Amino acid sequence: MSARIISGTAIAFQIREEIRQEVIELKAQHGIEPGLVTIIVGKNPASISYVTAKQKTAKELGFYSVQEDMPEDISETALLEMIGKYNKDPKIHGILVQLPLPKQVNETKILYAIDPDKDVDGFHPVNVGKLMIGEARFYPCTPYGIQQLLMRSNVQIDGAEVVVVGRSNIVGKPISMMLAQKAKGANATVTMCHTGTRDLTFHTKRADILIVAAGRPKAITADMVKEGVVIIDVGVNRIGMTPEGKAKLCGDVDFEALKEKAAAITPVPGGVGPMTITMLMLNTVKAAKYTVSSKQ
Ligand code: GUN
Repeated sequence: MSARIISGTAIAFQIREEIRQEVIELKAQHGIEPGLVTIIVGKNPASISYVTAKQKTAKELGFYSVQEDMPEDISETALLEMIGKYNKDPKIHGILVQLPLPKQVNETKILYAIDPDKDVDGFHPVNVGKLMIGEARFYPCTPYGIQQLLMRSNVQIDGAEVVVVGRSNIVGKPISMMLAQKAKGANATVTMCHTGTRDLTFHTKRADILIVAAGRPKAITADMVKEGVVIIDVGVNRIGMTPEGKAKLCGDVDFEALKEKAAAITPVPGGVGPMTITMLMLNTVKAAKYTVSSKQ
């Protein structure tokens, strides 16, 4: 068997066209341009590449977008002041602080400082709590993208055995919570595995849907899954350079071996990555729309 390749690039394109339409309507009916500020601290190449892609997409979709490049040695106070400024700026509907942050800055304190109504990453504890009780306004972008990939590829989620490998606040925990909700595109039985899991293969072999955010190449090999599994590979590992000088990427699963065993699989690049960026745009439009509905 050769797996169906789930193209994040194609599905993200489709969603971006829907967003483009919404942006036109928001402008025509309410005179509002969705506004997004991305704040990056330091020169981490992965962070720069993500934020550049986010800004490019925002511009392409007709957003008002601002990028703040801050030095690696920025003080926590200066970063908090900047967030305070954008919390008050009516042209900005979404604030994104790219993670990770340098050591002198307390990440939790920064995430708390963002107005929850502008928290398009869905990382503020208020939004994390709302997600937990099934009342989320903003789903974190990567989990939201994963759920859309599954739904738009007609993968049966309701009743499925979903195994998530990884328990990060950005991916593992929120996707586990989202897919376990009693809701459309969810209602699955979810198992969350992590570095403390005693027998990883015992769990991964049971998965109908396997979501891997382990942060390590080939963390999942063909002997660890059952025939016909659907695999979502969230990994982005940089493994050298292409001849064009671009970073060469690979995911967290042994793609070549697994595509012979899986029913469907996402590639890296071109799987989850483009979806994450697109869901950020969707969250920013949601945030902009919210300012309209809260005024009415
Ligand atoms: N670093 C890695 N992924 C993300 C993300 O989705 N949002 C932010 N802000 N930082 C990240």
